[in-house]
Amino acid sequence: MSDLSPQDRLKLAVAQAAIDYIKPKLEPDTIVGIGTGSTAAFFIDLLAPLKGLFDGTVASSEASAEQLKGHGISVYDLNAVDNVAVYVDGADETNAQLELIKGGGAALTREKIITAVADEFVCIADESKWVDTLGAFPLPVEVIPMARAHVARELVKLGGDPVYRDGVVTDNGNHILDVHGLHIHNPKSLERAINGIVGVVTNGLFADRPADVLLLGTENGVKTFT
Ligand code: 5RP
Repeated sequence: MSDLSPQDRLKLAVAQAAIDYIKPKLEPDTIVGIGTGSTAAFFIDLLAPLKGLFDGTVASSEASAEQLKGHGISVYDLNAVDNVAVYVDGADETNAQLELIKGGGAALTREKIITAVADEFVCIADESKWVDTLGAFPLPVEVIPMARAHVARELVKLGGDPVYRDGVVTDNGNHILDVHGLHIHNPKSLERAINGIVGVVTNGLFADRPADVLLLGTENGVKTFT
């Protein structure tokens, strides 16, 4: 692990902090929701030794599902479980209200669905993700392919500069528009406005349902926000 970059060391630290946070809550019937991205990947590797302590997982992407299965951890279809006790995932940006931008890895829709189901959402992020105002990271929007140009025109009306993420097809068979140039002062209302555009599947603002807990990796240790 000594060859990790400083940022990856912080990602590993928050992944370990998430393990320490959830371990006392694990029961034989617990389903753990698993996010997507490099921070979530550290979490999956650290979760593997605990696999005998809980039932299994639901995953927000095919990539995370494959990593979990590689560790011999059960991955269930979300429709097959009654409850997700806790969802652990990274973020591209977070503000002090624990409102997030997610979707840098194009998994935003499944991430938002599992977030909606989970009793508790634990966000794990290194300190580079902390912002005063969301929007410096281009906001991902998942769109039905035939609606891409229409949605892009509507996003321009909302003040954004949408850019097609060329060559990316989501696990749901859709496309991503990354919206640049936003300074998001009211995340909840923008989340709803974008989701109201016909052809949008969902957008990467997690404000209506923000994180419940943020474990933020800093050079001075992991800080917990609730
Ligand atoms: C994937 C996501 C990720 O959580 C987000 O992109 C952060 O990724 P990383 O942990 O690699 O910095 O939303 O869709």
